[in-house]
Amino acid sequence: MRIPFIGGNWKMNLSLEEAIKFVEEIKPKLPAANVVETAIAASPLFLESMIEHNSDSPLQITAENCFYKNCGAYTGEVSPQALSEMGVGYVIVGHSERRRYFNETNDIINKKVHAVLDNKMVPIICCDETMGRLDNGDHFSWVVSQVTAAVQGVSEDDAAKIIIAYEPSWAIGTGHSASTAEAEEGCYLIRQTLADIYSDEIADQIRILYGGSVTEKNIAALMKEPDIDGVLAGKASLSPNEFIKLANFQSLK
Ligand code: PGA
Repeated sequence: MRIPFIGGNWKMNLSLEEAIKFVEEIKPKLPAANVVETAIAASPLFLESMIEHNSDSPLQITAENCFYKNCGAYTGEVSPQALSEMGVGYVIVGHSERRRYFNETNDIINKKVHAVLDNKMVPIICCDETMGRLDNGDHFSWVVSQVTAAVQGVSEDDAAKIIIAYEPSWAIGTGHSASTAEAEEGCYLIRQTLADIYSDEIADQIRILYGGSVTEKNIAALMKEPDIDGVLAGKASLSPNEFIKLANFQSLK
């Protein structure tokens, strides 16, 4: 059984004080981790304090990015080993904003996926379809190629643990979510791609999320779809009340 995964991605928002207050506020209102898993991805500057204030909580404190080497002369980069030592369990890799503004290629993303797994953390790999849509209208083959490149060389055991997020960038931060059917289609395609690379059994274990303008209004319908195992929410995750509602989507109509 795939446990639903509700993730927030704060991006470069909130202050340290707000981040700590947020964690304290949502802690008692989250579902148990064996019912719905919850995660907040935040700036690396906040993670240590958030972890300190997150004791006895099911919330997974998550990184938004990391580098693909553990140490060395890489000024300004964030070491995956340091994140792991700090107690971070999940790392977002290949978000469309990283691909677009920081020129992250499929090759870089694949190296980061390995670095995260090697450090006993779980990558949340984001796939976008927009460039395929713009280039040649063939957006689905673009998604397939991103998934295939991201998991290259990842063993079956590790593959079963990873999380993939279908995040069309035209839906990110625009207030125009993909329709439920479009989101399901993208997630289904990703699961079929994983089944082709690995097997049906492995693909059945991998959690696939939808991200792009998720709110308390559309989450319940999205979560009813067979291939959508969770969401990655940006803007909606900045408000503690809204994140609590997303985490408790099972009680929303
Ligand atoms: P959004 O962002 O919910 O603000 O659209 C989603 C994301 O970037 O993961």
